Amino acid sequence: MLQFETKVDANKLKGKDFLTLLDFSSDEIFYLLELAGNMKKAQKEGKISNILQGKSLGMIFENASTRTRVSFEVGMTQLGGHALFLSPRDLQIGRGEPISDTAQALSRYVDAIMIRTNSHEKVEELAKYSTVPVINALTDYYHPCQALADLLTIYEHKGTFKDIKVVYVGDGNNVAHSLVIGAAKVGMDIAVASPKGYEMKQEIIQKAKEVAVSTGSTVTVTNDPLEAVKDADIIYTDVWASMGYESEQKDREAAFAPFQVNSELVSNAKEDYLFLHCLPAHRGEEVTAEIIDSAHSVVFDEAENRLHVQKAVLASLIK
Ligand code: CP
Ligand code: NVA
Repeated sequence: MLQFETKVDANKLKGKDFLTLLDFSSDEIFYLLELAGNMKKAQKEGKISNILQGKSLGMIFENASTRTRVSFEVGMTQLGGHALFLSPRDLQIGRGEPISDTAQALSRYVDAIMIRTNSHEKVEELAKYSTVPVINALTDYYHPCQALADLLTIYEHKGTFKDIKVVYVGDGNNVAHSLVIGAAKVGMDIAVASPKGYEMKQEIIQKAKEVAVSTGSTVTVTNDPLEAVKDADIIYTDVWASMGYESEQKDREAAFAPFQVNSELVSNAKEDYLFLHCLPAHRGEEVTAEIIDSAHSVVFDEAENRLHVQKAVLASLIK
């Protein structure tokens, strides 16, 4: 059972957007994790919830998804609500309708909008014109739902965030950005090792470091995976070429090869290290099958936790 003893006014979360974890205080993040833990327990016990009865979530997917789509849709159903899958092929956005008009029109029907798109600016624009909460389900910059699930998974397995060292090895992408912010918010040390030219954005490193100062944790950025992985409790990686970067695959393979999570690399971590990956994974590229399919890997607990944390987010934001 997760208990963080936070003092959060839950009403303050109502109507809020969920675009990046930077917009949430450490206490609010602990509150969402605790709620997710409680909802997970209730669901396992077969308890039925109707807290979002009559509520609808519009889900705009400009990119492919397995976990995000299914977990949001199932999450709404489990809370008594309903989700609509909206692809740009079917929406008028695909034919040039402004995002601002789409936001205002959808706000008249649905109680929250979830969006996955390459452009973080588009999500900000949608949130600006929407009168219902907007949830970021992955942009080129952030993947905050993923980071929240990652934090829940780490806490469940390690029982604490204190003195836990998370090491992210690979592309300084959306997943890395949200993970580094999430770790800093909960006071967990994080090291990120990326090839030269594929580091996280400077502004995000800077923001995460500022947060870390306030929570007494550290953010370390390096180009040396071996050094980063030393004494790691958690090793995390993601694909070498994210959605939208597929054409760079060949160049990236050369740059990322020394960053593969394999048995040699993990031999530098703690003996009881855990392996995390947001999925989908490419065995033989960013991680070997030997590692992702080993007893150290908790990737499917992590995937499951997307459902629970998103239910907590939906229940907290929807009025
Ligand atoms: N991790 C994640 O977001 O998976 P999907 O792309 O399948 O939604
Ligand atoms: N970084 C990956 C995450 C997929 C869930 C991407 O953006 O494609």
